[in-house]
Amino acid sequence: MFKGMVIVITGGSSGLGKALAQRFIKMGANLALIARDANKLATVKAILAVTCDAGQKIEIFPCDVSDYAATEKTMNNIADTLGLPDILINSAGILKEGYFENLSLNTFREIMDINYFGVINCTKVTIPFFKQKGRGRIVNISSLGGKMASFGYSAYCSSKFALVGLTETMRMEFKPQGIKVHLVCPGEFESAMVDDLNTYRTAENLVVTQTVPVLPLDVVADEIIKGIQKDRYLIIPGFTARFLERVSRFIPSLSRSIIDYKIRSVYERAL
Ligand SMILES: NC(=O)c1ccc[n+]([C@@H]2O[C@H](COP(=O)([O-])OP(=O)(O)OC[C@H]3O[C@@H](n4cnc5c(N)ncnc54)[C@H](OP(=O)(O)O)[C@@H]3O)[C@@H](O)[C@H]2O)c1
Repeated sequence: MFKGMVIVITGGSSGLGKALAQRFIKMGANLALIARDANKLATVKAILAVTCDAGQKIEIFPCDVSDYAATEKTMNNIADTLGLPDILINSAGILKEGYFENLSLNTFREIMDINYFGVINCTKVTIPFFKQKGRGRIVNISSLGGKMASFGYSAYCSSKFALVGLTETMRMEFKPQGIKVHLVCPGEFESAMVDDLNTYRTAENLVVTQTVPVLPLDVVADEIIKGIQKDRYLIIPGFTARFLERVSRFIPSLSRSIIDYKIRSVYERAL
């Protein structure tokens, strides 16, 4: 399905973006990888090049997705270098956890700028190419934190909930134009983002997020690829995450009670 396609992956230098890149390369795609750090991108390109067939292309494009002008320039460069894109994977994202009172306004803005406006920027500059082609596919990596709130994630969940609303709208607006949209809402999985989180996260965040087992990155990437191949709109990797998303959707009061109980247990332990 992906053979010969031009796939643009934001956040392609690390974690999920990199894991998806590895799979798409094995399936014969050409890749444009976007992230801010040029050195990390170059390292990933070198790793991918080893498994790449002659004729397959991997190009790297250092760019901050929160900067619209830079994103527009980058997408034009990609079209000139690799051809019109077939798929856009919006995986670039950041996370900062902490009590609402301690998170600065700048943190809220920075997270929205990357996790939400970054997706808007990349999508806006890609849509004209998809329309030229008469087809396209957008894969937005939100989070289970875009469906269910979690302790310490006031800034992160705001950005991911906003992304869910944006993606729902994109799906209905783009479908008549032949552009398919996927919403991906993973629970926690192994990545640099979580390694960093583990150095400072609050005890309350840990007990609440521990309700869902941390998934291996490979499981998440494989389920996303399978979801795309099956044209599934909502992709939630892992049984427990899927189950909890349904509980929170259909019995929100039960979901809130479980979370409150878990948070209370942290305070009782501290007494
Ligand atoms: N890990 C989890 O448990 C988890 C769970 C649910 C959802 N997610 C979501 O999954 C996505 C990938 O997360 P991950 O765990 O793979 O994170 P990661 O390993 O930290 O990778 C994040 C990637 O995004 C890039 N990035 C960050 N800010 C950027 C910007 N302004 N412009 C361009 N690129 C930027 C990073 O490169 P540079 O820093 O060099 O720019 C890096 O390539 C994120 O959207 C995250 O919110 C993660």
